[in-house]
Amino acid sequence: MIVVLLTLFVIALALLLLSLRALSSTGVPVRASSPEAIDAALDLLALRDGERLVDLGCGFGRALRAAHRRADVECLGIELNPFAAAGAWVLRSRRTRVRWGDFRHADLKEFQAVFCYLMPRFLERNADWLEKALAPGTRVAAVDFPVPGWTPETVRLVGPLRQPIRLYVIGRHRHPPPESQGL
Ligand SMILES: C[S@@+](CC[C@H](N)C(=O)[O-])C[C@H]1O[C@@H](n2cnc3c(N)ncnc32)[C@H](O)[C@@H]1O
Repeated sequence: MIVVLLTLFVIALALLLLSLRALSSTGVPVRASSPEAIDAALDLLALRDGERLVDLGCGFGRALRAAHRRADVECLGIELNPFAAAGAWVLRSRRTRVRWGDFRHADLKEFQAVFCYLMPRFLERNADWLEKALAPGTRVAAVDFPVPGWTPETVRLVGPLRQPIRLYVIGRHRHPPPESQGL
């Protein structure tokens, strides 16, 4: 009995330490988007059957489950926090994969749609990486915070706090295009 309890304690402690490490390395807490924000983001993404959607930092996977109710899409959630990743995995719907890890190590070129709710400092440090990681034409819905240097196609404001949801399309997200800046 003592051995079982000790094992559970060690596992819980390890998960806690890994969660703290995830938070300190990204500065992004596990905070679920509101249902209204997810609805607006999915409206803007206008998912079509057969497309692939990735949630960058999927938390407990709420957006992935909502996406499935909209269209017959293939979903991937990538999450660094082990508790959240495990929760998203347990609650996942059909045709949804959940991966525990850092999405900056994933190949994202196969996705037509991206959902993200990430913090300003993180977006500032990773905007260039994200731009290179995605294929031209990829639609990106960003909840709350803008991707610095990118121009949205559309901004929708939701809820009483008028929370902004932005839609970017890779290839048209730099306005003016970088080569014409400063001319
Ligand atoms: C604000 S929460 C949003 C959760 C979910 N996308 C939603 O909107 O309900 C952001 C999540 O991104 C995760 N995250 C941040 N940086 C990450 C990275 N580089 N790789 C994987 N997950 C990351 C955090 O652990 C956190 O759970």
